[in-house]
Amino acid sequence: MCGIIGYCGREIAAPIVFQGLKRVEYRGYDSAGIATLSDRSLLVKKGVGKLDEVNSQKGLDAIPGNIGIGHTRWATHGGVTEPNAHPHCDCSGEVAVIHNGIIENYQELREQLISNGHRIASETDTEVIPHLIEDEMKKGNSLKAAVLAIAPRLEGYYAFLAISSREPDKIVGARKGSPLAVGISDQGFFAASDALAFPDYVTELLPLDDHEMVVLTHHGAELFDAAGNRLQRDKRRLTSRWGEANKQGYRFFMLKEIMEQPRVVEDAAAQNKELFTDIALDILRAGQVIITACGTSRYAALVGRYLFSKVGRKFCDVVMASEFHYFADSVDKDTVVLAVSQSGETADVIEGVKEAKAAGAKIVSIINRPMSLLEDISNHVIYLNCGPELCVAATKSFLSQLVVFYLLSFSMINAFDKAVNNLKRISSEVSKTIDWNNDKIERLSHELKTKNDFYYIARGINFAIASEGALKAKEISYIHAEGMPAGELKHGTLALIEPLTPVAVICPDDYTYNETLSNAIEAKARGAYIVAISDRDNEIYDFWIEIPKVDELLYPLITVIPLQLLAYHLAVSRGYDPDRPRNLAKSVTVK
Ligand code: G6P
Repeated sequence: MCGIIGYCGREIAAPIVFQGLKRVEYRGYDSAGIATLSDRSLLVKKGVGKLDEVNSQKGLDAIPGNIGIGHTRWATHGGVTEPNAHPHCDCSGEVAVIHNGIIENYQELREQLISNGHRIASETDTEVIPHLIEDEMKKGNSLKAAVLAIAPRLEGYYAFLAISSREPDKIVGARKGSPLAVGISDQGFFAASDALAFPDYVTELLPLDDHEMVVLTHHGAELFDAAGNRLQRDKRRLTSRWGEANKQGYRFFMLKEIMEQPRVVEDAAAQNKELFTDIALDILRAGQVIITACGTSRYAALVGRYLFSKVGRKFCDVVMASEFHYFADSVDKDTVVLAVSQSGETADVIEGVKEAKAAGAKIVSIINRPMSLLEDISNHVIYLNCGPELCVAATKSFLSQLVVFYLLSFSMINAFDKAVNNLKRISSEVSKTIDWNNDKIERLSHELKTKNDFYYIARGINFAIASEGALKAKEISYIHAEGMPAGELKHGTLALIEPLTPVAVICPDDYTYNETLSNAIEAKARGAYIVAISDRDNEIYDFWIEIPKVDELLYPLITVIPLQLLAYHLAVSRGYDPDRPRNLAKSVTVK
């Protein structure tokens, strides 16, 4: 979702800001813009579309000036239009603001501003900020004083950067509930929603907390508290960064990320045994264990719940992060909360974790992206180590999450090393699954690409894989898809099965085989087209996706692969870009 970056230094700002926006492009966006200060004037360019498109139309990276702010917008309030793209300005064209978050009381503020004579040019919540700053500056306040004065009036959450042609030597930033990293280098000073937006020469960070603000000038970055008092903070070295990711010859990041999965299993399994043992003990001793996550990460959590029960004999619950708040009454200091989030930034996850922490719970996070908000508020952090995942739809991070849950569950019975060995063998089975099936699934996608409804069924440990397969199809192929436990099919969904409706049946040759097959036969009796993901053939299959035989607790790492490939090939054969699905974002930083 929205990415923001500001630069103040010796260099021309716009190209640096533009490159920073390119580095946060993966978060997902629909429009972009940059504002700079040059010769005491405010210059703004913005437009709808991908960064390169907007740049070629508007010349974003060619605006003069040594101070610049840039934004990629993922629409929340107001449609995808040029007026709604950031930066937003005040009436006089002197103040420009970029913002990530949501100003929840914007309607009330907007009405007050309009009745005071302000002209509002967009439908966004953000635009109230430059107008409020304008009012404060008209009273004679500095930009910094104006930001301090308006911050308490903004309900909701934000990270924003503001510039004014009246004070053409600075950028003022503030945050509450949304991330804002401050970066320091010899070439200038930065603030961004994501430290990964900084160029490689930024080697130090200044930690900025909620309700604090930063002022960047050519001379440095200064931090202030909500009362305007100067804060002294030690710099932190910027240790983790992700190298430039490119498609390495693949047509799309999604395919590249699927293909990386054999290696990803090994990298995710390279964990610290002591850390896992400590966390496993905490889980076993806890009065209750709750796993919270969204989207694909939640499906990994559901597999994790199964593993905890089957291996560690520890029951836990998985609560959708957006619903966590409604269960927060039951969280106490005897609770361990595992938060699973590729980005470490998903607003619903962060909010739930903060609430759990305030209630005394111990927080263990399973994260991929380094330097995230979630990292800062966790007692223990486990990294997935799978590198940048740039396709909006998660694939390799999911497999890595499954590896982490497998290791955690075996750590509960003091068998971490055994789990690592089991996983070493699985990497080649993941390769085999891809090699055996990629071309075959591409052919299948051509056969099925006109179908509008898909169903995915499975039992036991693979049930969550059925849901994940359906989610992938929805996200990138725009096909209506539902995943469910096979036994549930007859409690409603069977009514929707018509002749040749595709039903993907995940039926590895394990203790669920016979019952899952019975459910597939029930669907077939109503005309369903059965696509089976199995290591065992059966005459009822219309299309068999063969997978290798593995230990029953490791099937999810194998059975998900053909479903990722199916969604990918369906998207491509239907003419869609699987990396940038419409309406979706990689980092969902709003609730
Ligand atoms: C968005 C992404 C999904 C992801 C979900 C959770 O919806 O499009 O791919 O699974 O957020 O993200 P997280 O970073 O918390 O794992």
